[in-house]
Amino acid sequence: MTKHIILDTDPGIDDSLAILLALASPEISLDGLSVVHGNSSTALGTVNALSVLELAKASHIPVYKGCEIPLVQPSLLAPETHGEQGIGYAKLPAPQTSPQVQHGSDFLIEEIMSKPGEVTLVCIGPLTNVAMAIRKEPRIVENVKEVFIMGGAIRHGGNTTPLAEFNTFVDPHAAHIVFHSGMPITLTPLDVTYQCIFLPDDLNRLLKIDSSITKFIADATRFYMEFHDEYQKIDGCVINDPLTLALTFMPELCDYQELYVDVDLSGGVSMGKTFADFYRMTDKPANMKVALGVRPRDFMELFLERMEKLAKLPS
Ligand code: RIB
Ligand code: CA
Repeated sequence: MTKHIILDTDPGIDDSLAILLALASPEISLDGLSVVHGNSSTALGTVNALSVLELAKASHIPVYKGCEIPLVQPSLLAPETHGEQGIGYAKLPAPQTSPQVQHGSDFLIEEIMSKPGEVTLVCIGPLTNVAMAIRKEPRIVENVKEVFIMGGAIRHGGNTTPLAEFNTFVDPHAAHIVFHSGMPITLTPLDVTYQCIFLPDDLNRLLKIDSSITKFIADATRFYMEFHDEYQKIDGCVINDPLTLALTFMPELCDYQELYVDVDLSGGVSMGKTFADFYRMTDKPANMKVALGVRPRDFMELFLERMEKLAKLPS
């Protein structure tokens, strides 16, 4: 049974890898992308989304430009992590296609409300578009089939502040709205993504295939690996977003707990920090499934196999 997925994304290097994984996975149909600020500006992220789709011969998939700044917080982008162009050292031709006219948040509403119970929403950037969609049309909460979110750090430290993960730190108010909306959420936090390191040897395996896809992956991840080495002394790079995407069709890669999760809005040192009520001290019911265990090399094997398959397609 093919899953119909819409992807809210801030491309971004690992976002681009998640788009490629979606295109290489027969289990899912990628029905559209809404772009949000985050790794890059929304304008640049929209260009990157269009370009990556064209690279993979998937320019028929519509792209929608969404919110350009967080709901309340000042804008925060990540050029040091993803490069000034948002895709590391990779260079892609300017896209031939254009984004749709409709706003990204309106696309999310229209897609979910027109196919009640059928749409899987995958969120791999700050949650501004999704929060805006909930406020505009609260009924998407009970009409969306399921929601997969890359974000947060539960028992793991932050990657943007010592406590907070990038997507929830950039727009904590949006995360708060989404986390408490009642949507059927599966959260993929840094606790599991930081175990999924794309290694130099993994890249060398892909480079055995001479393809524009493998060249893009190499040029994008070389920048990302340099960032992880310089800032976090990691040999390789953390590919957060492809793991999140993979769980839509291979949930057995992770182990989950049903937990009450909240995000700190107090504005102090822990702003944007996500935390789980493991001992039910708040008496609040679980509001999401949280991935806290993972089989990293099973995931990486899946990712590499799918990238090899995509790269071998006629260009
Ligand atoms: O913290 C990692 C997340 O923030 C990933 O989705 C990355 O692409 C950035 O958006
Ligand atoms: Ca992202």
